[in-house]
Amino acid sequence: MEQNIDFDKIDWALPPPEEEPERQYYFIGKCRRLVEEFEKKTGRAPTACIQTFGCQMNFRDSEKLSGILEQIGYQETDDERADFVLYNTCTVRENANKRVYGRLGYLNTLKKKNPDMIIALCGCMMQEKEVVERIKKSYRFVDIIFGTHNIFRLAELLCQRLEEKKMVVDVWEGTDRIVEELPVERKYPFKSGVNIMFGCNNFCSYCIVPYVRGRERSRRPEDILSEIRRLVADGVVEVMLLGQNVNSYGKNLENPITFAQLLSQVSQIDGLERIRFMTSHPKDLSDELIQAMARLSKVCHHLHLPVQSGSTRILKEMNRRYTKEQYLGLVEKIRKAIPDISLTTDIIVGFPGETEEDFLETMDIVEKVRYDSAFTFIYSKRTGTPAAQMADQVPEDVVKDRFDRLLKRIQEISAEVCGRDVHTVQKVLAEEPDDHLEGYLTGRMDNNTLVHFPGDVSLLGKIVDVYLEESKGFYYMGRMTASGS
Ligand code: SAH
Ligand code: SF4
Ligand code: F3S
Repeated sequence: MEQNIDFDKIDWALPPPEEEPERQYYFIGKCRRLVEEFEKKTGRAPTACIQTFGCQMNFRDSEKLSGILEQIGYQETDDERADFVLYNTCTVRENANKRVYGRLGYLNTLKKKNPDMIIALCGCMMQEKEVVERIKKSYRFVDIIFGTHNIFRLAELLCQRLEEKKMVVDVWEGTDRIVEELPVERKYPFKSGVNIMFGCNNFCSYCIVPYVRGRERSRRPEDILSEIRRLVADGVVEVMLLGQNVNSYGKNLENPITFAQLLSQVSQIDGLERIRFMTSHPKDLSDELIQAMARLSKVCHHLHLPVQSGSTRILKEMNRRYTKEQYLGLVEKIRKAIPDISLTTDIIVGFPGETEEDFLETMDIVEKVRYDSAFTFIYSKRTGTPAAQMADQVPEDVVKDRFDRLLKRIQEISAEVCGRDVHTVQKVLAEEPDDHLEGYLTGRMDNNTLVHFPGDVSLLGKIVDVYLEESKGFYYMGRMTASGS
């Protein structure tokens, strides 16, 4: 979204404004002048490549980073042989970190060929002191490091790097600020993530997110609504409301409001067709929310409800604050109110002290709930979390065996469950040209299931009626019906 700032009106003789976002517009303007110089010298616009790891929050942050770079004058590319490369990192599991270190080696070889290349790192990994120390020591070719709380300062940090010609490190321990109104470059023109809150207060004992994303902060409903109105005016038909625990949205606002109330307000926005949200913590999922989901036609019938484990004993150790029975009770209540709901989940295998018996409880909950799909993760020890100190870390081969058994069962169930709508007509949002089939599009049903169907790219971003001809397990093959074409 363009913000209509007249960069020619900025008075460079004055020091940068203290106020945000004006201060960042000043630095965007300043970077633009440097980009113009680059263009004069080389005859082309500089290129920028952002690589995003991790969750939806990070992807949304990257759209904001991309918006700033675009305003500065960078041309975006997927190719890492760019003039500016930014890794937006994730640290939720150890292998996410390893990938970043691995890729940095490759970036170093690229930088040797293009010494003016700028390499920047941001995101959750950078909130960990040991990581920043390691990069400062062993990866001296990195130019800019910043964290999760100050992504809005990208232009300022870039200016600083270009002027001072040494590594710039700016990581904040926390923040109570939410800076609005900076440019955003969306990946899809017709759907968008919208942050409704930042951070997390839950401190599940295995999880590093509260340490790297800080305390829970909700955005004001009026700011969320005006952002969505602007998005809709710009062609968006589907929003995904984002937060680590959306069910506790609004509790700490000056004028408290519940997530269900927010959903109801968002629903009233004309032109918006679909509302999704992520993630729901079972302990805070209220009856009010279930009722709102049942009542509000724009709210999609898909609920991602991470269970993590089926063993009440392990759930207690995880500090999840619900029991297996409470979770199953919740599922029953949701299914009663919204019979066609699609349920998905996250499960961790091999949490410290997990016995075969505990694991069988997880298998049992999967059997009982019958999820549409589930993300399964091998427990990863995160330094600084309470679980990292726990005795009885489970041996690797035992975890691997449990993981394989679980995954197999989840996939079998998923194939049975997901096919339930075969031979019906469903509303499908056409999202992308099909990767594999020429002349086909890929879209999503209200409940998030993928559908492939013949269609022209002019339909992208439109909601069409599709007859589901054949279930392929976790997706359908379909064709548009007359009313949808
Ligand atoms: N806020 C969301 C989840 C964010 S992290 C929620 O509470 O549901 C996404 C998923 O990563 C979690 O649901 C969990 O299953 C997994 N995860 C988090 N920390 C992990 C760890 N240390 N090891 C393995 N998986 C982990
Ligand atoms: Fe991590 Fe738990 Fe917060 Fe989710 S709710 S981000 S799993 S601490
Ligand atoms: Fe990863 Fe940070 Fe998201 S640690 S999962 S990118 S909040």
